[in-house]
Amino acid sequence: MKFFIDTANLDQIREAQGMGILDGVTTNPSLMAKEGIKGSEAIAQHYKTICEIVDGPVSAEVLGTSFEGIIEEGKKLAQIHKNIVVKVPMIKDGIKAIKWFTDNNIATNCTLVFSAGQAILAAKAGATYVSPFIGRIDDTNWDGLELIEQIVGIYNAQGFMTEVLAASIRSPLHIVKCAEAGADVCTCPLSSITGLLKHPLTDAGLQQFLKDAESMK
Ligand code: E4P
Repeated sequence: MKFFIDTANLDQIREAQGMGILDGVTTNPSLMAKEGIKGSEAIAQHYKTICEIVDGPVSAEVLGTSFEGIIEEGKKLAQIHKNIVVKVPMIKDGIKAIKWFTDNNIATNCTLVFSAGQAILAAKAGATYVSPFIGRIDDTNWDGLELIEQIVGIYNAQGFMTEVLAASIRSPLHIVKCAEAGADVCTCPLSSITGLLKHPLTDAGLQQFLKDAESMK
C-alpha cells in the first residue's frame, strides 16, 4: 500500500518525506485555504513547490463544477508538473471530465466518493484514483472501512484498473485496516502516519536497552 500525505502544509510534507516512506500527496481546497494560499499564481506555485519536495503523484483539486470549467482548470494544473493528478469531484460533469482527461492522458483522482456505485462510475470513466472518504462516513455512524472492502472487491471482480485511495483517514488504526482491506493507497494526516510508530512496549524496551548499553561502556 502506498502512503500519501493529506495536507498542503510544506513542513509536514517535508517531515513525512524525510522519513523515507512517502509516495505522494493529496490536497483539497480546504487544506490549501488553511495554508493561506490565495489566487491562481500562488496556487500554482504551491503545487510546484510540493512537487519539488515529493517525487510522486500530487493531487490538485479543481475549484469549478462545470464540465468546461473543470477541463480548463485541469489542463492548467496538469501543466504545472508531470506529477500533478487532477482531483475532480464526484458529480455528473466531473465524471464527464474524468473521461475527457482519461482520453487525453491526464491522471485524475475522483474525490468525495461515499458509495460503491460512485466508485463504479469513477472506474468506468477511467479515473486513475478513486477517493472514498472513510472518516467522514464513520462520522455518520456508518463503517467507512466496509466501503473500502466493498470497492476493492468490486474492482478486483471486474478488473478495473482504478486505484483505491482511502481518504479522510483519522487514525493509525484506519491505516492498518485499509492495508488489511487491500487499499492501493492511503492518504493520511501526518499525525496518523507518525502514530504508527507508537507502542508502549517499544518505549519501555528501548529505555531498558539504553540503560543496559550505558552499563556496558
Ligand atoms: C483527500 O483526498 C481528502 O480530501 C481528505 O482526505 C478529506 O479528509 P477529511 O475528511 O479529514 O477532511
